[in-house]
Amino acid sequence: MTARVFLDGRWLPPEEARISVMDRGFLFGDGVYEVIPVYSRRPFRLEQHLQRLQHSLDGIQLANPHGMSEWIGYVTQLAAEAEWEDQSIYIQVTRGPMAVRNHAFPKEVTPTSVILAEPMTTPPASQREQGIAAVSAADIRWLRCDLKTTSLLANCLLRQMAVAAGCVETVLFRDGFLTEGSASSIFVVRDGVLLAPIQNHLMLPGITYDVILELAARHGLPYEVRDITDAETRAADELWMCSSTKEVLPIVTLDGSAVGRKVGAGGTPGPVFAQMYSWYQDFKATVMRGA
Ligand code: PDD
Repeated sequence: MTARVFLDGRWLPPEEARISVMDRGFLFGDGVYEVIPVYSRRPFRLEQHLQRLQHSLDGIQLANPHGMSEWIGYVTQLAAEAEWEDQSIYIQVTRGPMAVRNHAFPKEVTPTSVILAEPMTTPPASQREQGIAAVSAADIRWLRCDLKTTSLLANCLLRQMAVAAGCVETVLFRDGFLTEGSASSIFVVRDGVLLAPIQNHLMLPGITYDVILELAARHGLPYEVRDITDAETRAADELWMCSSTKEVLPIVTLDGSAVGRKVGAGGTPGPVFAQMYSWYQDFKATVMRGA
């Protein structure tokens, strides 16, 4: 963690940044968050992350304690002064402390806002070159997965299923349709077409998801945004996961079965992935150079 943490408008050493045990974020998971990647001290897609923060705050009826330009100022300041060139900046806003434990919102709400940075650890090259293993599970989360809330217990339990099976991610299905990963967006490639699940209340509107579809459009890779069945996912030529911290990674086995058997090179990263990964890195470099 950084030498200084932002807490409610003040920059403090981490050991002095304390919140009340009566904070609703602690007692109820009543809060929202963002994770913003920073490359060479430049926050990537900062405005989009802050817009999604606003969407999450609106969704839980919590007034934003800071204006857009204030957030930009705080995040940019932290990105400039943190120990590392590449960082992952975490923002959290909760509904703050209450006098007596009560599910209903307090009359006077004093939100708690926190910003901190950690070193950015992008996946090792081996995961990109050999691909990763995933398991699948029923999506047991609530019906507002479009909100990036700190109530992440279901996501944690789902992710742990992957860890327990020696895998990296858990791919989620609800009522026979692909939603997303426990902490990532999922894409399918079939017959040269990139398939993306529809962004609705059942999945997080991923910032990396948007980047990938923009890159597909820019480079003429055909794509469709539509419902994707469990069967289509399992019969995919390629399966990818993506997020702000993982960027984009090929999933080469799902529940122990090789992905992409149909195209002959099952169980290895596919050619469309290799293409997208290189577009992604070029785009990132362009954005980071400010070109
Ligand atoms: N999670 N879906 C879920 C459930 C996620 O938790 C995440 C990211 C994504 C990808 O979103 P984005 O591309 O905007 O990072 C999709 C972050 C990284 C986390 O919770 O740490």
